Amino acid sequence: MCGIVGYIGDKKAYPIIIKGLKRLEYRGYDSAGIAIYDGNNIQLTKTQGKVFDLEEKSKSNLDASDGKISIGHTRWATHGVPNDVNSHPHYSNSGDLVIIHNGIIENYGPLKEELKKRGYTFTSDTDTEVLVNLIEDVQKKEKVKLGKAVQIALNQVVGAYAIVVFDRQKPNELVVAKLGSPLAIGIGKDNTEFFIASDASPFIEYTNNAIYLEDEQVAVIRQHKEVKIRQIKDDSLVIPYVQELQLNLEQIEKGGYDHFMIKEIYEQPSVIKDTYRGRLLADQGIIRLGGLEDHVQKFINANRVIIIGCGTSWHAGLVAEYIFEDLARIPVEVEYASEFRYRNPVITEKDVVIAISQSGETADTLAAIKLAKSKGAFVYGVCNVVGSSISRETHSGTYTHAGPEIGVASTKAFTTQITVLTMIALKLAHVKGTISKANYMTHLRELEMVPTHIETALKTNDHVKEVATHFINARNFLYLGRGYNFPVALEGALKLKEISYIHAEGYPAAEMKHGPIALIDEEMPVVVIAINSNHYDKVVSNIQEIKSRKGIIIAVVSEGDTTVREMADFTLEVPNTTESLSPLITTIPLQLLSYHIAVMLGKNVDQPRNLAKSVTVE
Ligand code: AGP
Repeated sequence: MCGIVGYIGDKKAYPIIIKGLKRLEYRGYDSAGIAIYDGNNIQLTKTQGKVFDLEEKSKSNLDASDGKISIGHTRWATHGVPNDVNSHPHYSNSGDLVIIHNGIIENYGPLKEELKKRGYTFTSDTDTEVLVNLIEDVQKKEKVKLGKAVQIALNQVVGAYAIVVFDRQKPNELVVAKLGSPLAIGIGKDNTEFFIASDASPFIEYTNNAIYLEDEQVAVIRQHKEVKIRQIKDDSLVIPYVQELQLNLEQIEKGGYDHFMIKEIYEQPSVIKDTYRGRLLADQGIIRLGGLEDHVQKFINANRVIIIGCGTSWHAGLVAEYIFEDLARIPVEVEYASEFRYRNPVITEKDVVIAISQSGETADTLAAIKLAKSKGAFVYGVCNVVGSSISRETHSGTYTHAGPEIGVASTKAFTTQITVLTMIALKLAHVKGTISKANYMTHLRELEMVPTHIETALKTNDHVKEVATHFINARNFLYLGRGYNFPVALEGALKLKEISYIHAEGYPAAEMKHGPIALIDEEMPVVVIAINSNHYDKVVSNIQEIKSRKGIIIAVVSEGDTTVREMADFTLEVPNTTESLSPLITTIPLQLLSYHIAVMLGKNVDQPRNLAKSVTVE
């Protein structure tokens, strides 16, 4: 998830682009760049680092530029580590075209090979540089205008994109296109100027008239002309729909949500799609993970898989333990990285270690990786930040594509981590033959359905909010789950603790009788994950044990459940899915419950006290 900005008009473009990029920095902040057309040439500056670094680097040569046409980009790396070369904008081989792109071109590999055969060369590792050269190649071969060339090129592309392209040979227009990634066009008075951006925050102070491009649309933007929009597939003309925006800046950066946390909770359906995009081909029964392909045998022949992480990442590892052992029959141990690194653990070269980290910078996890490597283990990373220390320290890995997670309480990183770990486990189970073809296909199809199931669960938000009103004075909470949902109980308790400061504990439901049941009385709210599962009947009797001690039951139940609904004081309903995929759904109402309780208590949910988004110290 990157931020893109463009301008064509009568004003000096440089300050508009730089300010716009700063407003979009929440979308990505590992590298940035700007290109300005000064009437003769394209002046381009780009750098690793934040927009501030770009400003420092470009001030001397661009601040003075009178250029009135410009494009800028702030990056969240997916293909190619964050560095100067991989940052955007990217030139075409001729130097006439420049492009900025937010999204992922899945088939950039084969396209790149084709272009290489036709003499194109590439300076970066990015999918975007392939796209701008493909557009140039079409322009040359088909002898068509830029708009048409972009259209023809995009019909060969698989993936997601919001792009802005400028051609030095045709300096009075910008061509933009969209599929999957957001793109807004801000319209200045009488079409005297146009702004292009990932959301309206870069141009809301100049105009609140905007067109939001729809999927598979391309638009040509020329000063003093109506914006011309066409369908990419069939070239049909589209009547632009100009809407008047009623939003203020702060709202826009949060996408209209009150906090980054709730925004990120609602982003889960789309970022899970982004995380399995091009990796999960359910109809063909294929799971393709670039980082894993060459190492499948290492996992299959391993004595065991040791999963390390901290906090929410450790909880994702616990869920993975269940699915790796259940479906792939691979023995798994899950370790707190902070304990693992000092426990003088027995590690051999026959072990595979999976290190999970959203930020990729957590000190304990990094140190645990170095220890495991020093003992000869193969270390595989599951990270959300491209180019982070952990992604560079591991032998190989898979990135979650959750986009920047700004809220300190991790939400979308948790579900995208589970999505990646589930794909790894299913891939290994399939190769090992420890899962039947039918069960394998069911899992792939159900995994593809997860975003829809989460959308359904999110529709209960108002009900969860109502339930939350009953617990703002609670001093303690217990969270219970069995099997795959025991780690979800731990995660639910952690979410409540870290943002509401209410003491909460997660427990395997069967453990209650061995102590915690002593805590139960009419003051103790107990969240129980009681979805349809092999443990259902056992969970029902756990609920009876709590009810008989007057505990207050908040039960997460499957659609259509009647039994637990009658026993529980409050029920939070989720759609059905396979038990192994249920943690991706059952965690949603628990995220919402903790969020609403914390908001009602007036807590700073995005920056809770005493916490940091990335713990880079011991
Ligand atoms: C979770 O909400 C917390 N922010 C924290 O527990 C976090 O999961 C932990 O610090 C690990 O961070 P990482 O995934 O970036 O390594």
